[in-house]
Amino acid sequence: MSGNREHFGGRAAVIMAMAGSAIGLGNIWRFPYMAGEYGGAAFILIYIACSLVLSLPIFLSEAVIGRRTHANAIGAMKQLAPRSGWMALGYLSVITPIVIASYYCIVGGWSIEYFFKSFTLDFGEFSPSGWKALAFDTLFLALSCGIVALGVKGGIEKFSKMSIPVLFLLIVIILAYSVNMPGARAGIDYLVKPDLSKVTGKTFAFALGQSFYSLSLGMGIIITYSSYVRKEENLVVSGVGTALSDLLFAILAGFAIMPAVFSAGIKPSAGPGLIFETLPVIFAGMGANAPWVSSVVSALFFLTVTVAAMTSSVSVIEVGVAYLVEEKNIARKKACLIVFLVTWLLGLVSVFSIKLFGMVDAFTSNFLLTLGAIMVVLFVGWKMKRDDVRDEITNGGTKHAGLFPVIYFLIRYVAPIAVLVIFISNLIM
Ligand code: PHE
Repeated sequence: MSGNREHFGGRAAVIMAMAGSAIGLGNIWRFPYMAGEYGGAAFILIYIACSLVLSLPIFLSEAVIGRRTHANAIGAMKQLAPRSGWMALGYLSVITPIVIASYYCIVGGWSIEYFFKSFTLDFGEFSPSGWKALAFDTLFLALSCGIVALGVKGGIEKFSKMSIPVLFLLIVIILAYSVNMPGARAGIDYLVKPDLSKVTGKTFAFALGQSFYSLSLGMGIIITYSSYVRKEENLVVSGVGTALSDLLFAILAGFAIMPAVFSAGIKPSAGPGLIFETLPVIFAGMGANAPWVSSVVSALFFLTVTVAAMTSSVSVIEVGVAYLVEEKNIARKKACLIVFLVTWLLGLVSVFSIKLFGMVDAFTSNFLLTLGAIMVVLFVGWKMKRDDVRDEITNGGTKHAGLFPVIYFLIRYVAPIAVLVIFISNLIM
């Protein structure tokens, strides 16, 4: 283990880095649609409840593992449960992020491409696969690895501290434009009008799945980032701060996107189709009278998507890099190069076939992440000593000590059962 391990600079730095990981494509292309389709305000309330009761305990479990050991995901498990079956959790926590990075960066690449296309508003047909996609994927991945190569403080922390405020500013500018478009009201209603008839068992499953994807759980990220959190920092505050920023951004993204969609009279959707097919049609259509305004709004939007995706991609890349640096004694820059190459090669599977892209995405989101999350809560709830868990979460009994029994109960009983239900329903659905 390296003796001079880096740390995040303080509370704000921790929350900015974690929020950077949390705020990503999930907030922009999934949350708004889900909110609209599954009950509006009712969905948002259920989402908040799922975040509090389930995602936050999972978040804290990962944070306990990371901060307790101040080590990368595999190193952490080596300290806590050497040579046991639990090592699988360590390995899974390093493998999943690499798989995610391999296709996440492809989307980052599309966003860069569309940023440039904004200036001519000539978007053409969306072509997600092929050599051009590979070129932009390579660029996006290289930039992300470049940031990670600069270090935890000099790269990730600096980039997140700069990006998070910019992201909020950008999304608010786009929102202001969008809600003033003619007919925008219908988009606002779509997002907030509570509709209890749309609330079913599925709503809960989706809300929970989305909430923990959005908080970057089940993939070693919070373990790794928390390993850079100092002992005096408060994990509960970091978790709540991250979850709130993530939720706020998702809601703002909804109000930035849906009013424009409804104003153009288009049916709302989610995923790549929403961002790279529907919105470009709207941007191009808005340009009839004042093309430059339309270009600016479009460029700002794709810049937002690019930066939001990049603060997430650096967090995935850091998981593998931290492992190589600490367990294999490889210099950080070289470790970044290795992760770059492995991720790039793996990305070839998805970049030439949108079908495979979808399969890799579904496999990781529905299977690997949920598996990771179940193992994390079982490990912290049942294998680690209660006193150790309490010590981390309450900073030795000085913070939120009264809340601990509740949190511990959620970690031990509620979270594993809920995630298991999601896991099984993902398998059979
Ligand atoms: N929280 C991210 C999002 O909402 C999910 C994610 C993080 C995915 C990091 C990949 C890597 O997009």
